[in-house]
Amino acid sequence: QATTSFYEAVGGEQTFHRIIAAFYREVAADEVLRPLYPEEDLGPAERRLRMFLEQYWGGPRTYSDERGHPRLRMRHMPFKIGPVERDAWLRCMRIGVAEIEPEMLDDAHRKQLLDYLEMAANSLINSEW
Ligand code: HEM
Repeated sequence: QATTSFYEAVGGEQTFHRIIAAFYREVAADEVLRPLYPEEDLGPAERRLRMFLEQYWGGPRTYSDERGHPRLRMRHMPFKIGPVERDAWLRCMRIGVAEIEPEMLDDAHRKQLLDYLEMAANSLINSEW
């Protein structure tokens, strides 16, 4: 019997869909982040980030099937990411995570997710300003 993945434990597809939809709703209205996104339609970017996070947390491996190795630092190099962009990204992500009820995402899983997102955002900084 395999152990339950984080993905399953927090509600699977539904939960990830809700977090990332809320995140992109915030990005669309964020004056720091919105100009960084090259496409007018944020839908495809929303799908890529959702697939990546689902895979990272033990869900379907669709991201790698479609995109190959994530190479996130390399893929973020075209965008200037300094402390301001990182903070804006985390602000939007925290809003997304906050929309999930405690019954679905308990304190321990919530902390694990937020700690990861903070670590990951810091790791993608590529500018000092
Ligand atoms: C793509 C910005 C942090 C995961 C992108 C794109 C932008 C962007 C502008 C291009 C949109 C697209 O075409 O997909 C930022 C900024 C960040 C940040 C400003 C602030 C630190 C993160 C973090 C993660 C992440 C922390 C993962 C936990 C991704 C993924 C893609 C992406 C998976 C799509 C890569 C691909 O397959 O092409 N990001 N990002 N990003 N980002 Fe971020």
